[in-house]
Amino acid sequence: MAILFDENTHGFFLHTVNTTYQMQVDTFGFLLHVFYGQRIDGQDMNYLIIPVDRGFSGNPYDAGTDRRYSLDTLPLEYPVEGVGDYRQPALSITGKNGSTSLDLRYKGHKIFHGKYNIPSLPALYESEEGMAETLEIILGDETLSLEVSLFYGVFAEKDIITRAVKVVNKSSEDVVMNRIFSASLDIQHGDGFWDFLHFHGRHNMERICERVRVCHGITLINSRRGISSHHHNPFLILCDETTTEDAGSCYGMNLVYSGNFSAGIEQDQTDAIRMFAGLNDENFSWNLTAGESFFAPEVVLTFSASGFSRLSQNYHDTYRHNLCRGKFKLCRRPIMINNWEATYFAFSSRTLVEIARSAVDLGIEMLVMDDGWFGKRNDDTSSLGDWKVNLEKIPGGLGLLVDELNSLGLKFGLWVEPEMVSEDSDLYRKHPDWALCIPNRNPIRSRHQLVLDMSRADVRDYIYTSLCSVLDSANIEYVKWDMNRSIADWFSCKLLSETQSELSHRYMLGVYDLLERLTSHYPDILFEGCAGGGGRFDPGMLYYQPLIWCSDNTDPIERLKIQYGTSFAYPVSSVSSHVSAVPNHQTGRCTSFATRCIVAMSGSFGFELDPRSLSAYDRETIRKQISEYKHFQHIIHDGLYYRLSNPLKDRYAAWMMAYADKSAALLNIVVMHVEANPRHVHVLLKGLDGESLYKVEGKTISGKALMNAGLSLSLPTQEYYSKQIYIERADENA
Ligand code: GLA
Repeated sequence: MAILFDENTHGFFLHTVNTTYQMQVDTFGFLLHVFYGQRIDGQDMNYLIIPVDRGFSGNPYDAGTDRRYSLDTLPLEYPVEGVGDYRQPALSITGKNGSTSLDLRYKGHKIFHGKYNIPSLPALYESEEGMAETLEIILGDETLSLEVSLFYGVFAEKDIITRAVKVVNKSSEDVVMNRIFSASLDIQHGDGFWDFLHFHGRHNMERICERVRVCHGITLINSRRGISSHHHNPFLILCDETTTEDAGSCYGMNLVYSGNFSAGIEQDQTDAIRMFAGLNDENFSWNLTAGESFFAPEVVLTFSASGFSRLSQNYHDTYRHNLCRGKFKLCRRPIMINNWEATYFAFSSRTLVEIARSAVDLGIEMLVMDDGWFGKRNDDTSSLGDWKVNLEKIPGGLGLLVDELNSLGLKFGLWVEPEMVSEDSDLYRKHPDWALCIPNRNPIRSRHQLVLDMSRADVRDYIYTSLCSVLDSANIEYVKWDMNRSIADWFSCKLLSETQSELSHRYMLGVYDLLERLTSHYPDILFEGCAGGGGRFDPGMLYYQPLIWCSDNTDPIERLKIQYGTSFAYPVSSVSSHVSAVPNHQTGRCTSFATRCIVAMSGSFGFELDPRSLSAYDRETIRKQISEYKHFQHIIHDGLYYRLSNPLKDRYAAWMMAYADKSAALLNIVVMHVEANPRHVHVLLKGLDGESLYKVEGKTISGKALMNAGLSLSLPTQEYYSKQIYIERADENA
């Protein structure tokens, strides 16, 4: 059993292969957090908790005259408002009398096989029976008649522990939830010196990794944009100040949610850490009516005692197998060409067929028709919501076009942006109230568009029906689901004034509901997520769409930084990455085909350019690289991922994938800054077998040497030069 309960000490012990998570119900019924870290068997770590009388830290009444017992200084498993703990609470509820005080005590628990379910929200699942166990700890507030269930899903083999929270209002009176975080993690051990990593950015520059020192007070990472956002990812890593890729402790906390979130770290008066994540509580509250329950989204935790590589690999493996769903989650996706950067809005069936003819001969397998195929959309000012093919651009309709592309040997995919509406659209003219808009105010436009009220079932039904009629009209095998703005006008004409504050979460539940309906109705369609590139690159979306357009920035040198940050939590297979034309449309930079290909290959590979304008030499290069990608696809997607340099600091970017059995690896290097008379590029390889010999570019070198002495490469002094090296165990092939 991965989950144990000790009847004598009331301790809960959650074990994964390499980690231990421990809690304890104390004499007063409060649930304390005891320890999370490297696996320790047969030991109760409650000796770590040493109550001390610290001034201005109050004592619960039950503690009598014991001034040492304070919830302000004890490590708490799920802290709440109003009990004399002045750190960040995870739960705040206003009762009928206006008080926000809560007093949660242990009521009972259940341990069962399998993984708990969260209705209507994305969450990890068991891919094989018996791989997960669940602990549900039930806490109760007697005065308010509230029950709070804390769920723990233990994926022992994967070193992953998930958490989720359910609140049930068992009273006959309504209460208002002001805040409900999904997890709070108190860490009291250690020397008090910690760093944390978060992933910030902007449109065209997502998930830039920043490592900062934890300081006293609260550091908050959040989104209020209605999407998880380009600006912050719902993912934090807390680590020792000495932790590196290969050594040291680190904790990951990733929220399975795609909307407004809050995550952060607090360091308190005793240097202890509280790490938390959940729904953003700004402009949020939820009316929990009598008898109702509410589920907070899931958080995925992992701990590594051996640095960031292992932490990332834990997430990669789990997300590929236990988060992504459907027939495409593990298989190679078709190599696609997307017409966006080739034509933008100016295309017709004829253009697409020409592109297709030119692409098919390169080894490309699918053509994706991007924005501009519907309504009368020739720029971004109109037609969103009118999901009817533009017969002037696509004469005869989608069926005819797709048949022609299929007969050329190409699959066909389509772009949609279902959550949006243009004011210049038949949909808006007919249903202006379907757009989010505040009464007596003009809406905030962004990219000329408004946002549909996804909390409304009638709106979702309309989108579902109109998308189904498009998807049924031709052999469509892929959908790119876009979302191109931050949300501003949080008002739904279907909600009462006291429930408007629920809208941001109801919006997300609506999006998930629609995605669930469509993806389950079309299991043979590959769905790719997108939000102006990677504005909604999060585990919530990966549950419905195993692939996400990583960024609108296709410049390979910038992509190195974006893909580096993305790799801390998300697997290569989830990263949609394309080779585009030069000069690059976002930065104006020119790079070689080889470099663009090497960078795009570390993802789900494709093209975003006009193949008709390529030289014979470039066409040959593409042919070669497509066949290399097909050859290496297994190791790229199934191999363990290792970051070998930091492209935000270093002169070159280096990363590799190695099979778990250490039989082979693929090394990738891109020189980011050219220098005169440069030093050799030197990399220490990882993930090889120290006892084996490997073939590396015609030489035989031991794994021990490659990992400890490294590989020195004398590369041509050429801007953005890149190199990919396949490394194979020599012994097996001798
Ligand atoms: C977003 C996407 C792009 C493209 C455009 C179309 O910006 O990220 O890839 O699809 O929309 O409008």
